[in-house]
Amino acid sequence: MDKFIICGGKRLDGSVCAQSAKNSVLPLLAASVLTGDPVVIREVPDISDVHCMAEILQEIGAEVSFAGGDVRIESLHAGNHSIPPTLTRELRSSVFMLGSLLARFHRAACAYPGGCDIGLRPIDLHLNALKRLGVSIREREGYITCECDRLTGAEIALDFPSVGATENILLAAVGAEGTTVLGGAAKEPEIVDLQNFLNAMGANVRGAGTDVIVIKGGLPLHGATYTPVKDRIEAGSFLIACAICGGEVEVEGVGGDTLGLLLHKLRENGCKIHTKNDKIKIASTGSLRCNRKIETMPFPGFPTDLQAQMTALNAGAEGVSVIVENLFETRYKYVPELIKMGADIEVRGRNAVVRGAGRLHGANVACGDLRGGAALVLAALGAEGVSEVSDLSYVDRGYAGLEQKLRALGADIRRIREE
Ligand code: UD1
Repeated sequence: MDKFIICGGKRLDGSVCAQSAKNSVLPLLAASVLTGDPVVIREVPDISDVHCMAEILQEIGAEVSFAGGDVRIESLHAGNHSIPPTLTRELRSSVFMLGSLLARFHRAACAYPGGCDIGLRPIDLHLNALKRLGVSIREREGYITCECDRLTGAEIALDFPSVGATENILLAAVGAEGTTVLGGAAKEPEIVDLQNFLNAMGANVRGAGTDVIVIKGGLPLHGATYTPVKDRIEAGSFLIACAICGGEVEVEGVGGDTLGLLLHKLRENGCKIHTKNDKIKIASTGSLRCNRKIETMPFPGFPTDLQAQMTALNAGAEGVSVIVENLFETRYKYVPELIKMGADIEVRGRNAVVRGAGRLHGANVACGDLRGGAALVLAALGAEGVSEVSDLSYVDRGYAGLEQKLRALGADIRRIREE
């Protein structure tokens, strides 16, 4: 697997454009099988999760082509409704295929989904909702087979605002007869994006971004060309990188509204933040105060996908910080690696107590998941001396051209390719 060699301590200055949101593009790709017409998704980031989803689409018989950053999908002849376990285990978002395959073909099968190992990540909320829509589900030896004669709209209430379950229900319910009212829905911007895409295909979905979404079902849908929202997590990662390294960076594509709590926390650290339309500008001296507390929550709370990066920031700041991870059980697996860089962090269950070390030092560390890996890269950028950050395949799942973008801002980072 590839590794980065990072010589830390360089200021970051300049501007960087956010990529399209990974967490938007993946459900949009799944939604493309709701129609046999061609669908074009524009400005798709070149990340391995997108390529894995494209392989899944090809496996079910869709034609997928990449050109100039766009992806074109035509699933007229999609005929295979079961997704091979090798692909399902690689990508948790493969579970979205259940919703869209059921909506269009009334049959779907896949293994229990994989993805980053950050907790139990069950899919009971997805499966219970599909049952409410009239799907019968058999689970045997880790394989899930779903069938129905037709989908019927229903009232569904989620016990927890799961992002993936909300999206899967939207995908299935657009193919149902009648209206589905989903209560307790997740409110992430990527769900609004999925609603907009489905409506661009001719669906009737209202309410995304609030906790009640109403879906008036009815196929067929038609093709569409769509540009997804930008990646607030990638954008947030660049802001945190600049905060850690010091400098002045403008991130384009994401407005302050989707990153409100992160910006609040960065101001607490001592950074100056200025937002205008879809641009966020940060100025940092690189000498930061710890946040007293950061607690992850569903949107609009502090995003769990930025928890690791902010832990890295606090590890090199002054003071003491308590991090509370409410979404995933084992999302601190990167902490032992940060400790190799001089961090003082004590993890107790969902809480981490970070005693700021003032400055971290370079070390050889290995990524173990996507966002934890990003946190190690950011820590290395701010650290004194040279770091080797290995096992980059995790980071490559979600960040396109990370080293090029960071180098353009002034970072000293290079990739060593390894077979
Ligand atoms: C999505 C994002 C991921 C982000 C997460 C939380 C995508 C592709 N991934 O993941 O980057 O970290 O939202 O913002 O969009 N849960 C259940 N049963 C279920 C489903 C979820 O108990 O059926 C639990 C999970 O274990 C977890 C919590 O709900 O504790 C949140 O999970 P969820 O919102 O579903 O996250 P994902 O959709 O997997």
